[in-house]
Amino acid sequence: MAKLKLAVFASGRGSNFEAILRAIAEGRLDAEVRVVISNKADAGALEIARSQNIPALHLSAKQFPSQSAFDEELLRVLREHEVNFIALAGYLKKISPTIVQAFRNRILNIHPALLPSFGGKGMYGHHVHQAVLDSGCKVTGVTVHIVTEEYDAGPPVIQRCVPVLDDDTAETLAARVLKVEHQVYAEALQYFAEDRVRVEGRRVRILPGKST
Ligand code: GRF
Repeated sequence: MAKLKLAVFASGRGSNFEAILRAIAEGRLDAEVRVVISNKADAGALEIARSQNIPALHLSAKQFPSQSAFDEELLRVLREHEVNFIALAGYLKKISPTIVQAFRNRILNIHPALLPSFGGKGMYGHHVHQAVLDSGCKVTGVTVHIVTEEYDAGPPVIQRCVPVLDDDTAETLAARVLKVEHQVYAEALQYFAEDRVRVEGRRVRILPGKST
């Protein structure tokens, strides 16, 4: 029995979702993806899910009369698929407090920079990497963090540095960062699958694994 029964929320192409699937297939992640949810009907992530026979749903707040009606439906879908953990993988909508409370410390997000720098509203995709270049920073990186009520502000589980090179453009930097994203998301999820994560205020402690 897989430990994590995942819902993946994605708005875009879904390369992080694919990396999660790869990690599961290669035995590096003890999880199964029960459902993929996107606010965009044409998200690549939904296509990937359908090609693997994973339930894939287009669900957006715009389809509902109120935020609470949307939240109710989301919770119903998550229950229906027996989800016990949520991975945001390029999901561009804020997660409402109702969902955060129902899955406290059981929602992760991946961000393509070292939070708390270069996060928050409007900081997604190309904008993040351009802001890093404009700042003159010599390092950027990846943050996998727990999702709280505040956007991009939850405690980090893993952060990894990526160098900024002199001749980088936002595109070359994004590509170097993305490679690291694809490694660390599954690592962070696996810590939860092994029940090695302890959240103490803003500090997340990872207990030693069986083989370490
Ligand atoms: C990634 O850079 C991720 O860090 C950010 O959104 C992007 C999604 O890319 N949250 P993909 O759809 O997983 O390829």
